[in-house]
Amino acid sequence: VSVVVLYNGPGDAPAEIDAWRGYLKACDPGIDFRVWPDTGPLAEIDYCLAWMSKPGDLARYPNLKAIFWLGAGVDHLLKDRELPRHVPIVRLVDPGLTAGMTEYVLQHVLRYHLRQPEFDAFQRQGLWRKLDIPLAKDRRVGLMGLGVLGRDAAAKLVDLGFAVAAWSASPKTMADVACFHGDEQLMAFLGRTEILVCLLPLTPATAGIINARTLAALPRGACVINAARGGHVVDADLVAALDRGHIAHATLDVFTEEPLPVEHAFWRHPQITLTPHVASQTIAETASQVVIEGLKAVRAGRLPANVVDLQKGY
Ligand code: NAP
Ligand code: GLV
Repeated sequence: VSVVVLYNGPGDAPAEIDAWRGYLKACDPGIDFRVWPDTGPLAEIDYCLAWMSKPGDLARYPNLKAIFWLGAGVDHLLKDRELPRHVPIVRLVDPGLTAGMTEYVLQHVLRYHLRQPEFDAFQRQGLWRKLDIPLAKDRRVGLMGLGVLGRDAAAKLVDLGFAVAAWSASPKTMADVACFHGDEQLMAFLGRTEILVCLLPLTPATAGIINARTLAALPRGACVINAARGGHVVDADLVAALDRGHIAHATLDVFTEEPLPVEHAFWRHPQITLTPHVASQTIAETASQVVIEGLKAVRAGRLPANVVDLQKGY
């Protein structure tokens, strides 16, 4: 029997917890599924499925064999100084999570491509006014991050005909995507990007990467979509670039402090569209299947897929 504890599920709603229990037990009725804080003796716990754990919490299970993090980004987890680093830490790579993010990216890229914020402003003024809209092939979209999420979004943007580029840490190739990498190619990537989409992990190398210098490297009138982490953006620099019109509009899903404090300038900024960290959400139906595969691998003595590289921090 493997004992699995769900720690701070992504949705703490009883229905979501029941869904996790149902999917796991349907695959392996032998799983003893417990929900924090009703863990029973801590030494009995073999695996933790965790999300937004508090520092030190995951160090309390002396016989832990793996941690399954129920999100793609592990920046929060890696801040835990007592994190048990000797067990595999598996991040969530899940077709449901990927599909959700691609929908979000497509929605906001299309909205900017089709100049919807300008038409919204005309509507508020009762103005019947047409604007030119270029063909997608003449709209340059740039993705920061060409990992699991970046690749899927890039492929669908290519399908729609956009001129897509991407920027990653290491060199990459992808059909119909202009690939840039490393610090030395960042400015060239930004200089050709009219709609910037951030899908990077938050690490010391990427913190504050959307700042006065990088925003200035985008062409005038560019739009920014940040669906990665709030820490990627220097908030005051973004507001300044919007205020002087260099950046036309920004869509923000993630914030340095969440929930976004009521007094924050982003809430009321006319050129900002914001959503409350919902770009893509962990859904038990698909995420549980990925976790089950990971559990099977660990129990068979194999390294599961998508183990976090603790050196790289993602
Ligand atoms: P991933 O597969 O690990 O991909 C990360 C990409 O970023 C890779 O292409 C990587 O380059 C690149 N990268 C990392 N550090 C870099 C650097 N210093 N310079 C340039 N490129 C760098 O991650 P993912 O699964 O696509 O997820 C990306 C992020 O999305 C997560 O970390 C999370 O924060 C965020 N997210 C947000 C939501 C939401 O609802 N808002 C939902 C899910 C995920 P290499 O390929 O060369 O390593
Ligand atoms: C959500 O933000 C995730 O990292 O999965």
